Amino acid sequence: MRKPLFVGNWKMNLTGPEATELTKKLTLAVGDLGNVEVAIAPAFTSLRPVSSIISASSMGLAAQNLHAEDKGAFTGEISGAMLAELRVKYVIVGHSERRRAFNETDVMVNLKIEAALRNNIVPIVCLGEKGEERLARKTLTVVRKQLNALLEGIPLEQSAKIVIAYEPVWAIGTGHNATPDQAQEVHKYLRDRLTKRYSKEIADQIRIIYGGSVRADNIYDLMMESDVDGALVGSSSRDSEQFAAICSYRHMNKAEA
Ligand code: 13P
Repeated sequence: MRKPLFVGNWKMNLTGPEATELTKKLTLAVGDLGNVEVAIAPAFTSLRPVSSIISASSMGLAAQNLHAEDKGAFTGEISGAMLAELRVKYVIVGHSERRRAFNETDVMVNLKIEAALRNNIVPIVCLGEKGEERLARKTLTVVRKQLNALLEGIPLEQSAKIVIAYEPVWAIGTGHNATPDQAQEVHKYLRDRLTKRYSKEIADQIRIIYGGSVRADNIYDLMMESDVDGALVGSSSRDSEQFAAICSYRHMNKAEA
């Protein structure tokens, strides 16, 4: 029912020529996986060349951020209207690195979600607890508060296309992924909250993807969980073979990874 989604977040890596080279390799390695959706999120400066390389493939283009306004005196920022022009289909909002390094708050991210939807771009809304919050058994409380604040005022008719990315902060870039059980517990909880906020029908359509140290050798077990609908992949997405293997998790098992 929900088509799995795999998004490669390249973060602030790869120059233009490097991004172009990796994109070409990826289009070959990933191929056309009819049963899943795949998108890559290069830096802003590589969006245009990457967009033209993938235009003939089934891969989608994603951006890593956008500003909440469509235009204006915001030196150094990029708007949703500008991204839409480049055929950007998804935009990552509220990544924990932006919260930590650029002081983004749930209120700011909420405005960015609205900006994305206004420009027909699918927001990939990141949330997740810090390590100390998990240790203090506050995970579900933290993600509930984040979800409520992030989706404040987002209307029912726009809600089904939103993607939620559960990215526990302690799992990002550490090599320690959430176990399938841990991911499933949070994803299921988020889906229940979405059911309460919207409806079961809507909640069943919203994709909840997992991010944090996803690799070819752990994606299969994560994807076997009923509420894990794909992955937001950092470092493993910059290796074409790894990322292709992650996107085709269906065809592999642990021993083959
Ligand atoms: P890693 O896959 O490198 O842990 O990064 C996850 C992430 O931040 C994706 O947005």
